[in-house]
Amino acid sequence: MEKTKAIVGGAGSITNYHIQGYITAGVEVAGIADIDVKRAEEKAKQYGIKNIYTSFEEMLEKEKSAFYVSICLPNYLHCEAVIKALKSGINVFCEKPPALNAEETERMVKAAKDAKKILMFDFNNRARPEAQALMKYIKNGDIGKINSAQALWIRRCGIPGFGGWFTQKTLSGGGPVIDLLHMIDLALYFMQFPEPEWVLSGVFNDFSGNPEFKGPWGIPDVKGGKMDVETSAHSFIRFKTGQILFTRNSWAEMNKREEVSVTFQGTKAGGMIRRMFGRDGIDETAIDDCEIYTMEYGRPVNRKIITEPDEKMGRERAVINFVRSVKGEEEPYSKPEEAIILMKIIDAIYISAEKKEPIRIY
Ligand SMILES: NC(=O)c1ccc[n+]([C@@H]2O[C@H](COP(=O)([O-])OP(=O)(O)OC[C@H]3O[C@@H](n4cnc5c(N)ncnc54)[C@H](O)[C@@H]3O)[C@@H](O)[C@H]2O)c1
Repeated sequence: MEKTKAIVGGAGSITNYHIQGYITAGVEVAGIADIDVKRAEEKAKQYGIKNIYTSFEEMLEKEKSAFYVSICLPNYLHCEAVIKALKSGINVFCEKPPALNAEETERMVKAAKDAKKILMFDFNNRARPEAQALMKYIKNGDIGKINSAQALWIRRCGIPGFGGWFTQKTLSGGGPVIDLLHMIDLALYFMQFPEPEWVLSGVFNDFSGNPEFKGPWGIPDVKGGKMDVETSAHSFIRFKTGQILFTRNSWAEMNKREEVSVTFQGTKAGGMIRRMFGRDGIDETAIDDCEIYTMEYGRPVNRKIITEPDEKMGRERAVINFVRSVKGEEEPYSKPEEAIILMKIIDAIYISAEKKEPIRIY
């Protein structure tokens, strides 16, 4: 039987996980497009992809039999590429952030409805074994109502290169708030996406442009390119349900080590998912934790949930879930409407910081 086909837009750092995810899900990656032909050729050679394109639109035009497309392009291209792909009749898996803002995200979600195609976003941290393990307790009612949560993705030296698209507001939508939105999203997922009401935030950019705060990964520096995004942000979100979320995101801030975590306090139990990165990403000093805190027979009880390790933080598993969701074999880890709520919060974080006042989300 002939395999179903996928195509991929963008041949940068995240693309490997998408291609590998499709291969594991039994899907053939038939085409790849990148304006940098060398990058597309490299991936094509590595994974045996037959067709290379330098234009995303040309790939859509030529690969009519493709059933899935991954959008692995810089953030400012997501909205247009997703809408074009949906209009051409393909199911779309788009990298995070969904787009530059909530308005673009709303247009993408509407386009999916109009085209009657599946649109999913890569909130890969939901696909981590630890996140799915905690979600079982939450869905089963063991945690009760999550009153409050704290979401952190904080680095000391983690600016992803200077002057490229990541550090320019018009191309990326912002700095670590939008780039490292994963834990905000994961906290909302655990809290079951309540409607946000108020956002109060502050952003800082003390280390903007300072090479000492550059991360060991990211994209190459661009000479003469600018950096006009924040380097850290602290926010407080109150929902219409009365629930509360506190968030911290930083590329550059005086933190002890890189921490990626969500902690929550429910009416029956609390819990935590956390990765403490090692010196240079994953090394022998990195620690993954997944825990539940409760009371049993009048005593505090801490449970450590043991899951299989996933160094890739769900990046491949999320692609497999996309394929299986389209086929109706699995529940999707994310729904498009959730992306709109997330992006409304992100927008409000930036507006609150700029206006120096709380912002009401209607
Ligand atoms: N889920 C995650 O953990 C994760 C991690 C990294 C990046 N990302 C997301 O993935 C996306 C891509 O990030 P990246 O780190 O791979 O960036 P990157 O800059 O390494 O790759 C982007 C690629 O797109 C190509 N490109 C630019 N304009 C194009 C166009 N008009 N047509 C075709 N190709 C074009 C570039 O040449 C480049 O090869 C971003 O949205 C980013 O936020 C997600």
